[in-house]
Amino acid sequence: MDNMNPNNKISFVLDGKITIVDFSKSEYSPTTTLLHYLRTLPEHKSVKEGCGEGDCGACTIVMGDLVDGKMQYRAYDSCLIFLPSIHGKYIITSENLGNADNLHPVQQAMYEFDGSQCGFCTPGFVMSIYALYKQEHESDRSEIKNALAGNLCRCTGYRPIVEAAEHVCNNKTEDEISKNENDISEMLSSIDKNELISIHANEQRYFLPFNKKDALKLRRMYPDAIVVTGSTDIALRVTKNNELLPMIIDLSQVHDLNFVEEYEEKIIFGSNFKLEDVRQSSKGKLDALYDILTVFGSLQIRNRAALGGNLGSASPIGDSIPVLMAYDAEIVLESSVNRRSVKLRDFITGYRQTECKSDELITEVHVPIPNDNQIIKSYKNSKRKDLDISTVSASFVLRLTENKVKEIAIFYGGMAAWTQRAKNTEQKLIGKEWNRENVENAMKMIAEDYNPISDARSGAKARNIMAANLLLKFWSEVSEN
Ligand SMILES: Cc1cc2nc3c(=O)[nH]c(=O)nc-3n(C[C@H](O)[C@H](O)[C@H](O)COP(=O)(O)OP(=O)(O)OC[C@H]3O[C@@H](n4cnc5c(N)ncnc54)[C@H](O)[C@@H]3O)c2cc1C
Ligand code: FES
Ligand code: FES
Repeated sequence: MDNMNPNNKISFVLDGKITIVDFSKSEYSPTTTLLHYLRTLPEHKSVKEGCGEGDCGACTIVMGDLVDGKMQYRAYDSCLIFLPSIHGKYIITSENLGNADNLHPVQQAMYEFDGSQCGFCTPGFVMSIYALYKQEHESDRSEIKNALAGNLCRCTGYRPIVEAAEHVCNNKTEDEISKNENDISEMLSSIDKNELISIHANEQRYFLPFNKKDALKLRRMYPDAIVVTGSTDIALRVTKNNELLPMIIDLSQVHDLNFVEEYEEKIIFGSNFKLEDVRQSSKGKLDALYDILTVFGSLQIRNRAALGGNLGSASPIGDSIPVLMAYDAEIVLESSVNRRSVKLRDFITGYRQTECKSDELITEVHVPIPNDNQIIKSYKNSKRKDLDISTVSASFVLRLTENKVKEIAIFYGGMAAWTQRAKNTEQKLIGKEWNRENVENAMKMIAEDYNPISDARSGAKARNIMAANLLLKFWSEVSEN
């Protein structure tokens, strides 16, 4: 990072060639979203703006990325991606798949299965299905539904769309994009991803480091800069509030924070490990984490948002927080001169406030593998199953000896300004028989532990009832097994 002078340029692959955006000479600012950039190009108008906040999927694009020398294709909401962070990536929109005279098999299936009426949502659906089509395996209905949960259609109805996806994802042929993959890979490899990208344009500064060392140096030099990893939270400040963000440090391409390491006693996630990757890695090992991530946002959000971002947001309804508290996870905080560990249970200190100092970054999350006697479960109450934030969420860890409660820890999201432990409720259960009567007595203590607010999502009374009922649900599931 010796050269701190702005280089102001990013390079990526679009329409089969390397494209350069020079921010010093263009109409784009560093916080122009990928959606708005694409919409300025006459040949990419299929990318639609619906909500501008990750909820509708009309802006879905596919990004190709070289991972260990192999092209990986994933769907993203382009409205949540700041333009500089596509440096070194391969951008694919519906126009790149085919046109009216030569439809791609995915587009053809949408046509043949009557998957489109007004057509506004259609390119977004096509791109979500296309990302699935590019996976090596065939897809069953549940995987298809999972891949389409981030796409909203107001008029067609989902059955024909799901059937189109089912047909095409189980009858794959080599498409033009696969045929050109080697050329595209060479182009991506030729784009430099070592030297920090530093942009200074339109009163804004934007840094895109590629390694932890540079990221920590920047954090020390610019403690007031806004840190983003997936930007799925922060982008809304631009797209919804029209804020001018003066300085950003973007960690989305810091390769040495994007990892998972598995040990017998714990799993370590890098803070830039994407939530969909965390979900996949948790399966069968950290099942309560897997369960909650399965109902986290949509696939487009999970492909982009990172674990460090969810914890860094310290949101009272951040879904990974209660469950990782139940696992008793530890957060590693690093500055360029120091490294320390903090229990997640002590990390959040107030409404959207954390132990993270102004020169530190969250770099790792250590999650212990529960021992055989520990039962850990997580639940999310929201108005919809998919793509909705929590009204109330809960995570429990329990250890029983001869059906008596030896250890219990209870964490609720959505019940206070930050995730807090239900200490009075726990006290009512500790040492007691694990039966319905005792659990129902403990449920009455929720009102002692919390004083939730009433807001658009729910009244305070309903929140208390939901929280109590989640404890009963936990008891019921544990008792059944
Ligand atoms: C459509 C939609 C659906 C959503 N659904 C859910 C949901 O179901 N559950 C849920 O919990 N959230 C949800 N969210 C909120 C958001 O996506 C998540 O909080 C997400 O995990 C944020 O991760 P990110 O990497 O995108 O964070 P960013 O937006 O990049 O950052 C979020 C915050 O964390 C800080 N931060 C980021 N990385 C670090 C780091 N390494 N060190 C220190 N601080 C850091 C940032 O400064 C910022 O304050 C949703 C958002 C959208 C737009
Ligand atoms: S415009 Fe709705 S998800 Fe991007
Ligand atoms: S076809 Fe009209 S919104 Fe989906």
